[in-house]
Amino acid sequence: MSSVKLAPSILAADFARLGEQVAEAAEAGADRIHVDVMDGHFVPNLSMGAVVVQSLRRVTPLPLEIHLMISDPDFFLDEFVAAGSDSFLVHWEGNNNLHRTVQRIRTLGKRAGVAINPATPATVLEEIVQDVDQVLVMTVNPGFGHQHFVPTTVPKIGRVRELIERRQPTCELEVDGGIDAATAPLVARAGATVLVAGSAVFGDRDGVAVAMSRLRTAADGTERKTKPAERSAVQRS
Ligand code: DX5
Ligand code: ZN
Repeated sequence: MSSVKLAPSILAADFARLGEQVAEAAEAGADRIHVDVMDGHFVPNLSMGAVVVQSLRRVTPLPLEIHLMISDPDFFLDEFVAAGSDSFLVHWEGNNNLHRTVQRIRTLGKRAGVAINPATPATVLEEIVQDVDQVLVMTVNPGFGHQHFVPTTVPKIGRVRELIERRQPTCELEVDGGIDAATAPLVARAGATVLVAGSAVFGDRDGVAVAMSRLRTAADGTERKTKPAERSAVQRS
């Protein structure tokens, strides 16, 4: 049985064949589709808006996860919900009212997650982790696909894992940026349970299905660092 979930990021897809590419990912067992929304302010790049979600909603039953890399995410939530979004990842950085944003997402009936950038410590999650379904640890600086993985994020993933075990064990721990067959084992071992991957899925010359199976094999071949109590429970069964 597979332990990690895969969330292909369409930022690296061929936009002229977006429906087809998402169908390939679904066929290959994608757990959800990751949609990167950028506004040119919060990050130095522009990407896509709710119209893309609206089109995808018509062609895939997979959950659509919206990663909002925008200033004032609250202004856009209704529009993305109406378009058919299932969950939102909002950044800790630049949000003076994060708890309010999370509550609004919940009120709209959607799953909420908080994202932190590479330079942001795990400790900022201490008072919000109990209110969210997911935490997203950025393993690159947000804004672009196909960047190099930032290795200092690995021990931080471990610290976020400890925090989750302590305060909200059902919370998912997702990672995003520079995830490929070489880095997947590192993040899985540190405690990540959901891997976002763009170029490693849509940029692989062997195709989406081969790329996704390569990622899964790489991640699942590693034993997660578990707490001693969990380890003995596993051994007993
Ligand atoms: C970066 C985005 C990522 C990006 C990942 O700001 O949040 O989701 O698409 O792309 P890769 O997997 O190519 O690093
Ligand atoms: Zn993303």
